[in-house]
Amino acid sequence: MGMSSPKCFSCAMAIPRFASSIAFMVAGLAIFVIVASVLLASSPIFSSFQDYFLSVDHGRESRPPIPPSFAGNHRPEMFVSEPSSPKPVSGSDAVNYDANSTVSDANLCDLYHGKWVYDSGGPLYTNMSCPLITQMQNCQGNGRPDKDYENWRWKPDRCDLPRFDARKFLELMRGKTLAFVGDSVSRNQMESLLCILCQADMPKNRGSRRMHRWYFKSTSTTIVRIWSSWLVHKTSEPMVFAPDGVAKVHLDLPDEYFMEFLPEFDVVVLSSGHWFAKPSVYVLNGTIVGGQLWKPPQNARVDMRINNIEAFGLSVETAVESIAAHPNFTGVAIFRSYSPDHYEGGAWNAGGSCTGKVSPASDLVRNEYTDVMHEKQVSGFGRAAEKASKKSNLVFMDITEAFGYRPDGHPGPYRSPDPNKKTKRGPHGEPPPQDCLHWCMPGPIDTWNELLLEIISKRF
Ligand SMILES: *[C@@H]1O[C@H](CO)[C@@H](O)[C@H](O)[C@H]1NC(C)=O
Ligand SMILES: *[C@@H]1O[C@H](CO)[C@@H](O)[C@H](O)[C@H]1NC(C)=O
Ligand SMILES: *[C@@H]1O[C@H](CO)[C@@H](O)[C@H](O)[C@H]1NC(C)=O
Ligand SMILES: *[C@@H]1O[C@H](CO)[C@@H](O)[C@H](O)[C@H]1NC(C)=O
Repeated sequence: MGMSSPKCFSCAMAIPRFASSIAFMVAGLAIFVIVASVLLASSPIFSSFQDYFLSVDHGRESRPPIPPSFAGNHRPEMFVSEPSSPKPVSGSDAVNYDANSTVSDANLCDLYHGKWVYDSGGPLYTNMSCPLITQMQNCQGNGRPDKDYENWRWKPDRCDLPRFDARKFLELMRGKTLAFVGDSVSRNQMESLLCILCQADMPKNRGSRRMHRWYFKSTSTTIVRIWSSWLVHKTSEPMVFAPDGVAKVHLDLPDEYFMEFLPEFDVVVLSSGHWFAKPSVYVLNGTIVGGQLWKPPQNARVDMRINNIEAFGLSVETAVESIAAHPNFTGVAIFRSYSPDHYEGGAWNAGGSCTGKVSPASDLVRNEYTDVMHEKQVSGFGRAAEKASKKSNLVFMDITEAFGYRPDGHPGPYRSPDPNKKTKRGPHGEPPPQDCLHWCMPGPIDTWNELLLEIISKRF
């Protein structure tokens, strides 16, 4: 039951496919705008999704309720606000950074190109054996009827990715601290790791509001999570024309919240991306240089030259560069690449959703926005890595393509236990409210931690 293998990734990266798909984007945009406005006008489904998506982790960021205006229309705006075609990263760049960061240690294989294969061995835990699953990710507990999505393993082309061995992980991390820094998708990965590990040793919660902290007594291992939506410095205070409330994202300064704790971490797993779809003002060197779903007043003279996609690339470069330059950080920094969502399922005009997906896609579900974000992340990481003196502790964990095949791995409509929730399309084909961004637990996201263990096991 093997899936067809992804096409040559570096070739695909080298072809400027962006140009060839502009026509598709424009057509898709037009259709999406119409569909979205009909949906927004006719039903409140987006509002509850929006609350969920925008819900911030209260570990830290209790401040800025971001204007709830993005959920229905963020995609069109992103495309519209993108004046020039971003240049695709060349294949050689992408491969080099993979190669030099994760794979350079001798004969390691490329973990990120391969296929999903059916594995009747089943998941590493269940909703019964892990008490730490957030309800939103507890797809089985929320009534999802199918289960096969739990039974696919990632098979890299030239090697095997071993099934996660919790004792091995804990031994490797004896006396060490691993931190997850990022948004709610980062939290999703941390909770997956906790569920896997708690099969061997139930951790104690030693967290505070500021930092979630779980302690595994058997090996004195600590898993930490710090909320950082953008990985760079964020302020809320009014700034020139930009009012209070809308986030000011300083693209050239790292987020001080995690930088302060960095020296304590032996491994730090960073990720970002999805918050670049949200309303914000981009700041460089103290000056407003752009924004997302925000426009300066008409009489203001502001050069809005940085859109959200450029901003993402710059933020990644800043975060990587700052970590590499931190004098007291001696650990390994792993950047997890952009996590693809599957609202399109390949066709916006078919109602854009992941409802009803029960197995991996046989062809990669390509999404221009995901591709461009991934390219910006690869190039931002690459620029910073080039400048870094200690390149060896920077790793790019490139999950984007592999997870493009997994529209079945999201909660979809099964994101709450509410027995009255809508799970079927409406009479006109409109999809039910759903989450096609985060990942079910157990589910394909557990693979991220298998990759993480592979990376760590080659270093400790
Ligand atoms: C990656 O490794 C190759 C071969 O070892 C080397 O030629 C290249 O300069 C390296 N790239 C970076 C960015 O370190
Ligand atoms: C776990 O999932 C099963 C379905 O596989 C469901 O019947 C059960 O209620 C769930 N339990 C919890 C605690 O979510
Ligand atoms: C940042 O702005 C200051 C003035 O506010 C200027 O002197 C400096 O050259 C700027 N730096 C960069 C890198 O643009
Ligand atoms: C690094 O550690 C030294 C010695 O403990 C300390 O003086 C210095 O402030 C630290 N630097 C940073 C950037 O944390």
